Amino acid sequence: MEKAGSRNLPGKVLADMVVINIGQILTMNPGKGPKRGAEAKDLGIIEDAFLAAYQGKVVACGPQAAFPERVEVLAGATVIDACGKVVAPGFIDSHTHVVFAGWRADEYGMRCRGASYLEIAEQGGGIMSTVRATRSASKEELVERTLGFLDEMLSFGTTSCEAKSGYGLNLETEIKQLEVIQECNRLHPIDIVPTFMGAHAFPPEFRHDRKGYIDEIIRMFEPVSSNKLAKFADVFCDVGNFTVDESRVILEEARKHGLELKVHADELENTGATELACELGAVSCDHLIKVSQKGIEMLAESDTIAVLLPATSCFLGEFPGAPGRQMLDSGVAVAIATDFNPGTCTALSIPLCMTLACSALGFSPEEAFVAATWNAAWASGLGGIAGGFGPGFAMDAVIFDTHDYMDVPYRFGINLVDVVIKAGKPVRSKNNK
Ligand code: NIG
Ligand code: FE
Repeated sequence: MEKAGSRNLPGKVLADMVVINIGQILTMNPGKGPKRGAEAKDLGIIEDAFLAAYQGKVVACGPQAAFPERVEVLAGATVIDACGKVVAPGFIDSHTHVVFAGWRADEYGMRCRGASYLEIAEQGGGIMSTVRATRSASKEELVERTLGFLDEMLSFGTTSCEAKSGYGLNLETEIKQLEVIQECNRLHPIDIVPTFMGAHAFPPEFRHDRKGYIDEIIRMFEPVSSNKLAKFADVFCDVGNFTVDESRVILEEARKHGLELKVHADELENTGATELACELGAVSCDHLIKVSQKGIEMLAESDTIAVLLPATSCFLGEFPGAPGRQMLDSGVAVAIATDFNPGTCTALSIPLCMTLACSALGFSPEEAFVAATWNAAWASGLGGIAGGFGPGFAMDAVIFDTHDYMDVPYRFGINLVDVVIKAGKPVRSKNNK
């Protein structure tokens, strides 16, 4: 196979896919590691630009005027004229529970009438209701449903996502969920990073034997890791679920099996889960609605990324939600994601989450873009691979039907996605779905 650049004319790169006449390209100024502080506002914009790729990877990006001297377009290449529109890296949804059966609209109605998330869970609803449905569903049914959700995510510009198990809570169904993720990864253009979340709740079989279920989770790590079914392990460390001490035991065992760590932290109440995530060097620490001042300080000093889920806090009626502005001002590296699941967030649109991050959590539109692309990549184990446009990065891009990137968070509830490009191939366009 011919190598990129082997037939280059002097100073030129070969390209089999190019986007030309881009009004604004958001390169994210690829650098090292997650962005925080002033860097987290810098979109690395080039106006009137081109983007070129070879075999699914970016090879060049720069001013349109330099295109003829920098790029040799191969015969048969895909050429897209962006006609002055905005191009950004494909969104990376760094926190989803996309594999599940059933819905829970009844609970949404109960919450609207005043019941709390925990009260509903205590009556056998909540996560347990989805566990019952997911245990009964066949693998084929789950694959078909998940592919449908992934299609919807793609339509809103998501090109990679993280996906958790955690609606099985026994070996058989946890593995079934992870195999569904594996199969969907094979079948769908969206790249999916799998997370094992057996520690999502205590199943009814173990209601009176917490230690018994924790031992069971620890036993599940072996088949999960030896079959390479997950990159991360996650724990719901919160009231009504796993305590800080229980979570520590589980996460330390996960690490022994080669899994990287994530924590659902301080969503319902402050329990010190964020401090635990920082202490253990978790890759991310997610939710943080009730994070403490100490937790924010520890995040700012650590490499752990705060993944904020503004659609979840909004859907739960927790206004305004996590103290995003304070975290950004304290130098925390922040990502935003959907948390797509049937209980606490039925939205799977990252642009919607960007609007909510701006309007409710105090992000600027620029910070919202960085949080949904560059930092989201680092929160998903895709740092340096996706989420920005530098040589060697994945050619995962979105063309928006606008000339001003501000419109993406500003045009609240409207889908501005025009074309989605994954690994150098247009996989979705508004006119030709
Ligand atoms: O991230 N917090 C825990 N897990 C999900 C909710 C899952 C559910 O209610 O089904 C969340 O909000
Ligand atoms: Fe979640």
